[in-house]
Formats: sequence, C-alpha cells, structure tokens
Amino acid sequence: MTTLRTGGEYTPTAEDTPWHRLGGSEAVQALVEAFYDDMEVHEPPLAAVHQQDPPGKVSRRSRERFGLFLIGWLGGPQDYTEQHGHPRLRMRHNRVPVGVELRDAWLRSMGRAMDARGVSGAVRGYLDTRFAEVADFLRNVPP
Ligand code: HEM
Repeated sequence: MTTLRTGGEYTPTAEDTPWHRLGGSEAVQALVEAFYDDMEVHEPPLAAVHQQDPPGKVSRRSRERFGLFLIGWLGGPQDYTEQHGHPRLRMRHNRVPVGVELRDAWLRSMGRAMDARGVSGAVRGYLDTRFAEVADFLRNVPP
C-alpha cells in the first residue's frame, strides 16, 4: 500500500524547517522580492499602503524587514528578533486598515509569488495555511 501524501501532512520540526525546505535564506529573500514585485503590478491598492521608494516600488527597507522576519519565522536564523525584537505583528499593522480586501490581495500576491518561485508540495500546503491564518489574524477593520 502506498500512502498518499498531501500538503497537510507536513509538520515542521527543528531539523526539518520550512526555511530549509524552501532552500535557505537566499531563496526566502527571493520569494519576498517576487511577492512585492507582484504586488506592485497586480495589487495596486495593497502596494499603495506600503512605503514606496521610488514611487511605485515597495521600499528596500520594507523588503528587507519582511525578508528577515520570514527567514526567522520559517525556522532560519533569528536576525529579525535580534535586531527588531518581538515582531508584534498586530501592533505593527495598526496604521494600515486591514480588511478582507487587503487581506485577500496579500494572499493572492503571496500565492503568485510562491508559484513563480516554484514553491510546491507539502511545504506549499503548509505555507498556504499559515499565511491565511496570519493574514486573517491581522484584520483590524470589520468585514
Ligand atoms: C493581511 C494583509 C497585510 C497587509 C495589508 C500588510 C501590510 C503591511 C505594511 C503596510 C507594512 C509596513 C511596511 C511598509 O510600510 O512598507 C507591513 C510590514 C510587515 N508585515 Fe505586513 N501586511 C499584511 C500581512 C502580513 C502577514 C500575513 C505577515 C506575516 C506572515 C506580515 C508581516 C509583516 C512584517 C514582519 C512587517 C515588518 C514589520 C516591521 O519590522 O516594521 N504582514 N505589512
């Protein structure tokens, strides 16, 4: 009998992190670049709530902070918390009115970025679920 493995069956451990499965810090940073590049083209209202530098481009600072966060959050080096402390994600998103439209725009951009970077299989299933949970947790305006 073969066991059908679906995305839901991946449970990260200290030895088998999503960071490792994605290919390490450079691959995670490349995913972040693809995410903001996608947002600029396909989700202008979402790009508009981000710091831009130059106009139309999500700033280098935003790209680097989210990249460092993601590397740590996925089980890689913890540089984000060492440099910036606890992420306090809800607090850091307070100035942005996150409703269902921006939440869904964020998830669409991240989904297309993962497609573009070839993120598939069990780690993709895991990330789709986790991103959806966090994006919904960050909603701070009623539907
Ligand atoms: C739900 C829709 C979301 C919106 C509209 C949103 C928007 C933003 C904005 C506007 C910033 C500030 C940076 C800038 O001005 O360019 C930011 C920062 C950040 N976001 Fe989000 N975000 C969303 C979802 C998420 C999710 C799901 C995560 C985590 C998985 C996340 C993690 C972060 C982090 C770590 C930062 C950097 C915080 C810092 O160090 O300043 N965001 N986000």
